[in-house]
Amino acid sequence: MTAHPSHFRQAPEGPRPVLARITPPARPLGPWRFLRTVVRNPLEAWPETIYREPHYTSEFLGTSSLFVMAPNLIRRVMVDEADAFEKSEVLRRALSPALGDAILTADGARWRWQRRAAAPIFRAERIRSFVPAMIAAAERTRDALAAGAGTDAGNGAEIDIAQTMMRTTFEIIVETMLSGSGRIDAARVEQGITDYLESTSWVFALTLLRAPAWMPFPGRARAERAKSYLRDELLRLAAEGRRDGTEGRNDLMSLLLAARDPETGQAMDDRDVADNLLTFVTAGHETTALALTWAFYLLSHHPESEALIAAEVEAATGGGPLTADHVDALPYTRQVILEAMRLYPPVPVVVRAALRDVDLDGVPVKAGTPITIPIYAVHRHATLWDEPERFDPARFAPEAAKARDRYAYLPFAAGPRICIGMGFALSEAVAILAVLVRSLRFSLRPGYLPVLKQRITLRPSEGMPMRVTVR
Ligand code: HEM
Repeated sequence: MTAHPSHFRQAPEGPRPVLARITPPARPLGPWRFLRTVVRNPLEAWPETIYREPHYTSEFLGTSSLFVMAPNLIRRVMVDEADAFEKSEVLRRALSPALGDAILTADGARWRWQRRAAAPIFRAERIRSFVPAMIAAAERTRDALAAGAGTDAGNGAEIDIAQTMMRTTFEIIVETMLSGSGRIDAARVEQGITDYLESTSWVFALTLLRAPAWMPFPGRARAERAKSYLRDELLRLAAEGRRDGTEGRNDLMSLLLAARDPETGQAMDDRDVADNLLTFVTAGHETTALALTWAFYLLSHHPESEALIAAEVEAATGGGPLTADHVDALPYTRQVILEAMRLYPPVPVVVRAALRDVDLDGVPVKAGTPITIPIYAVHRHATLWDEPERFDPARFAPEAAKARDRYAYLPFAAGPRICIGMGFALSEAVAILAVLVRSLRFSLRPGYLPVLKQRITLRPSEGMPMRVTVR
């Protein structure tokens, strides 16, 4: 009997590949080095202890900040006591200038009605209706890559798979959420998002220093220009959407235009609609593109896993085209995506602030304390994972996943603020990986070790150079 791919356990053969990772400082950094490190890459400022301990308090210039890693504590913050926490000041300072007070950045009643307004488009049957568009975009990418690919190992052109994935998921988000509307310049929007996010580590550092929001820093002017471009573009789309009316339209824009605040009865103005659209366009494609980028990176080090995906897709489709029904029936491909997001969570950290004094299973938290949930470190925590540095999709086989604490794995966070696009993202990532891997082979530039960089999301700092060959 052949083992089903989902029960396959990777046999460690030969020397293990050295995978890209953060090397944490053995001891907490002094204030000056800490700040410099935060500007370079906030994840590198986390001391080694957070990969081992249930919680940890960091002190900076007399302000304490609590890191929680133990699943029971995470559950208290994100679920049981969710009402006692709000989005933190640092997140607001970093994101609100671009995203306004929309679904990702708002709190309380204002957040709730925006979330309710958008929810219908994320119901399971709506997500299913988007899968053909996801597959079609993946097939266009496959055809473009195949046209430039070589026929045997190594002679194809080198591409940046990070950029290729951004373009593919961008096409999908615009087509599904905005009915493909609006003549958006994908290249400029991508660059705008990158330029804007680049500024966020400075904002983290300046917030720690309690510097005023107008404080200049390197790259600020570029970030401001990017922000203005993105905001103006989305405002134009929102105004066009309102002018053209929602009749016959069945997308996110029409839901937002039709939404009414349950307390005031008011509709969203164009600014609110634009802020939400920019939030969905940004949060809805960059993250999934990164999950895929890191999955391709891991697969290039694990060809046996890549072969299992290709075999699973061939078995499910009988060699025919991939359809929406197949996407739900590719358990091993899905496990690879989940394991990629464990090692490289696209959102590597979530931060909250306590609204009142709270007791977290014996850990007292004073009102105003920032709480960091270091998802990247939780996913590699010594007490939660067996050989945490090892790539092993079998961790997500049903029995293995069931045996683990739900709050040990948080790529989409948890509780009321859980990612609204989780189901969408998983279908999309599985569809894209399946379409590409069955036809093409991806090889990382020999010797290339990507450097992890957090700019809200977890990016490879110099992209992900790969050669593509036809399978
Ligand atoms: C692999 C892909 C994705 C990952 C890893 C991811 C991760 C996350 C995480 C961790 C949060 C919680 C942030 C916090 O609480 O501070 C979040 C929120 C959110 N995500 Fe995603 N996301 C992904 C894809 C998507 C997609 C495809 C969409 C939309 C189409 C989306 C839209 C949102 C929105 C609107 C929120 C805010 C929800 C709220 O606060 O109510 N995300 N995401």
